[in-house]
Amino acid sequence: MAFQANTKTKRAIQGILMAATMMALEVSIAPRLLDLTHVHAQAAADDLPEAPNKALVVKKCTQCHSVAVWASQRRTQKSWDETIAKMQDKGLVVTDDEYDKILTYLSTNLAPPPTPSAPPAAASVKTNAVGGE
Ligand code: HEC
Repeated sequence: MAFQANTKTKRAIQGILMAATMMALEVSIAPRLLDLTHVHAQAAADDLPEAPNKALVVKKCTQCHSVAVWASQRRTQKSWDETIAKMQDKGLVVTDDEYDKILTYLSTNLAPPPTPSAPPAAASVKTNAVGGE
């Protein structure tokens, strides 16, 4: 007669399979994660444009997290303003003068690319047209 695995045996087999899968995943993913973190942090610091007050920005904006958190971001001046204010809420300490210099550096060097066409306006007109039918 064929071997009939009871519930207990099935659970045990599932458990072993699960453990093996997790171990395999960990082994294959862990080294890559470490690698990425390393490469990313390094690339981000090097990628920052050379401009006045870069040193100040790096000094002030790496006290709690790495450059990688914000270096690849592209934001408008308003958005950078809000970001710096948010960081002040979290504990960033800067003088008014430093605030201005940091805002100038970020909004000048990490600005969003120009968008010649304006898709949002066109999209909203379309939506209205469909809604009005
Ligand atoms: C006192 C600690 C501290 C300092 C200094 C600091 N940050 Fe942060 N920052 C945080 C914490 C904590 C988070 C994650 C929590 C969150 O996202 O709300 C964060 C998240 C961020 C994020 C991602 C989340 C978001 O709001 O977009 C950006 C971008 C950022 N920081 C930029 C900056 C810049 C630029 C500076 C320098 C002007 C700076 N940080 C200085 C604490 C700090």
